[in-house]
Amino acid sequence: MRQNLQVAYPETVEITYAAKAYFSLGFARKLADLGIGVDVVSLGELNIARRAGFASEKIHLHGNNKSEEELAAAVAMDVQAIVVDSLEELAFLEQIAKQAGKRARVWLRVTPGLTVDTHPYRQTAHASSKFGLPLQDGQAAEGIDRVLASQSLELRGLHMHLGSQIFEDEPYRRAISKLLELAESRGCVPAEISPGGGWGVPYTPDGESSDPEPWIAAVAETVVDEYGRRGWPLPKLIMEPGRWIAARAGMALYSVGTTKTTADGGFVAAVDGGMADNPRPALYHALYTACLVDQPDEPADKAVRIVGKFCETGDELIPAVMLPAVQRGDVLAMPVSGAYQLSMASNYNLAPRPAVLWLEEGGLEILQPRETVDDSFWWTSTSVTKVE
Ligand SMILES: Cc1ncc(COP(=O)(O)O)c(C=O)c1O
Repeated sequence: MRQNLQVAYPETVEITYAAKAYFSLGFARKLADLGIGVDVVSLGELNIARRAGFASEKIHLHGNNKSEEELAAAVAMDVQAIVVDSLEELAFLEQIAKQAGKRARVWLRVTPGLTVDTHPYRQTAHASSKFGLPLQDGQAAEGIDRVLASQSLELRGLHMHLGSQIFEDEPYRRAISKLLELAESRGCVPAEISPGGGWGVPYTPDGESSDPEPWIAAVAETVVDEYGRRGWPLPKLIMEPGRWIAARAGMALYSVGTTKTTADGGFVAAVDGGMADNPRPALYHALYTACLVDQPDEPADKAVRIVGKFCETGDELIPAVMLPAVQRGDVLAMPVSGAYQLSMASNYNLAPRPAVLWLEEGGLEILQPRETVDDSFWWTSTSVTKVE
């Protein structure tokens, strides 16, 4: 992606990893070593980014409802940009920066009002989106005017994020053009442009290509054209992929337990995980494939429904996948499991979360230790604090 960007865009570029896809101290250290930036959305992610060695000027704080503590921490750290998400937050942040005696660098998240072709839960730029300052009704314009007039905020750039698991470049072109029209109408030349992340990856063999070249080319061309025809100096371009970086790096391994035939003739294999470690199928009917680790060459001639062990009918990982005869003890591998799985994991049914291992060139590290039922968790606490 970095090479693509350097070829496509003649000015400064930065890749910023969206930590929400998957983050832990061990993983954050690997990313910091690559020299990329990081987009965080909480105090927890911010603290891990700092501990992992990300410099302040490599960090952006996003979020549609940042707390006072989160904003104050980002102001104190002088992060590269705090991404203002509403007019209300703009005033709140201004007050916090003023009290800290700082001028906070901000981007405004503009909601261009367009719908991308992805699951509705992954769309973020439509008219009713909870994210950003809407462009259509003038809030984004007002946001720009207010930041430009502020003593405590410095407008560094404009940001948008259209959604996730997107495979078409056209919406990026349209949205960037809209953002720059807006900037021009307010007499503002953004020094930084961040068109967010969102580029998709295939989860199944018949999924669409994940080549990022069309995305990067579309973004770079549009920025160059739009700035060029206005005679503006080119901005720094910041791309924010999450899924594209993490998803294909991950492979989930499950052990098969119970198998059974349902009354309608279906064959079901239950694994020792499910919606608690991977909520994506239940959340947005995400599709996956799987194979049996120890029988890669056996004919896959049986349609199997892969379900989890949690007490929900929706706890189904794959509605149907062709596998060899499957039985208790088999290890099932589900590829493309690195993004938005363990970062959204829960302890439903008081299930401990699995370990995450990093495998590289024959080496193995534990990025995230396995939780065990004996660990001390919220559900093992016996101390009761009486509130007077
Ligand atoms: C502001 C912002 N940037 C980047 C991303 C990363 O998106 P993706 O993982 O689809 O690249 C997200 C995801 O929700 C986001 O909200």
